[in-house]
Amino acid sequence: MRKWNFCAGPAAIPEEVLRDAKNELLEWNLSGSSVMEVSHRSNLFAEVAASSMRDIKALLNIGDDHEVLFLQGGATLQFTSVPLNFTKKSSIVSYLNTGLWSKKAIKAASKYASVNVVASSEESNFTFVPNIQEWKVDPDSIYFHYVMNETIQGLVIRDPISSEIPVICDMSSCILSEEVNFNNLDLVYAGAQKNIGPAGLTLVIIKKDFLEKANEDIPDILSYKKNSQAGSMLNTPPTFAWYLAGKVFKWLLKKGGVKGIQKENEKKAKFLYDFIDSSSFYSNPVEKEHRSMMNVPFLLNDKNADSSFLEKSEMNGLLNLKGHRSVGGMRASIYNATPFEAVEDLVSFMSDFERSYNGNGK
Ligand SMILES: Cc1ncc(COP(=O)(O)O)c(C=O)c1O
Repeated sequence: MRKWNFCAGPAAIPEEVLRDAKNELLEWNLSGSSVMEVSHRSNLFAEVAASSMRDIKALLNIGDDHEVLFLQGGATLQFTSVPLNFTKKSSIVSYLNTGLWSKKAIKAASKYASVNVVASSEESNFTFVPNIQEWKVDPDSIYFHYVMNETIQGLVIRDPISSEIPVICDMSSCILSEEVNFNNLDLVYAGAQKNIGPAGLTLVIIKKDFLEKANEDIPDILSYKKNSQAGSMLNTPPTFAWYLAGKVFKWLLKKGGVKGIQKENEKKAKFLYDFIDSSSFYSNPVEKEHRSMMNVPFLLNDKNADSSFLEKSEMNGLLNLKGHRSVGGMRASIYNATPFEAVEDLVSFMSDFERSYNGNGK
């Protein structure tokens, strides 16, 4: 029996998509084989690649001035590849530090270039976003990098970043969850395992004029130019993950696209945050304006109750609520595939747990 899955990633996939894939698992598209057994260079798979490209462009409202790459290696490979593709040893790059994923990207870039951290909220354990007016972006930077949604801290940056310098954004945990203007963004990367599909696939959305500036003297497999020239098939791509992502795109289009799912996401997040804010037992430390719609970390006011909370939540069919070890407490990841009903069940459980805890005279 399927339960509600609040995992931060790999995360829940729409049930309808899983059922559809299950029906086609043994024989796909009259090919006499599974999609996993078909050549990525076949006409059949070319249609998967073409339709997923059409659909993602429609969903993100991007046109021909953007290239979309379907790559491997996760977001980690992308925040490593970005400096490799765009810097030289003497280059300066600017990074905003708003959480653990920002820190990892900064560390990766420091191996290739001189990193200017424009602002950081580390001293507050990343509970806020430094005021944009205070960011000290070095005007000589090759690019500016930020993480739109910090998955661990549950913190989002919605302000449109307008900059003379190319802007790079890690959108791994919020892509396709709310409308974003891609015109302001020169390169966006996102691992698939939250809002796109199974782990193993990573999207890179890159403006063609920015792509032109990429270095050529790096290994082909890490080169955005070479991957683009090869139509994301420089080597064997993760075909099953790509096929499933294509199904998730179609599911999203049927739900009214990003605009449609954004409404559902707003409703889910509001319901959960309102409950947390109304309770004296649960709390969320992030400043309200920057609270993530996708990842909702929360603390119990008695740490000793954590293990019982986790045990009972699991018994009640609510999976993977443990917070990241660097933050502690709990985290409910409520990506696109998590229905409102799951959040209702979570809130109902949290409310019962609080009542029974108080009833125990604590
Ligand atoms: C915002 C963000 N960036 C980067 C990563 C790293 O992704 P991967 O494990 O696919 O390399 C994650 C993973 O959870 C993430 O949430």
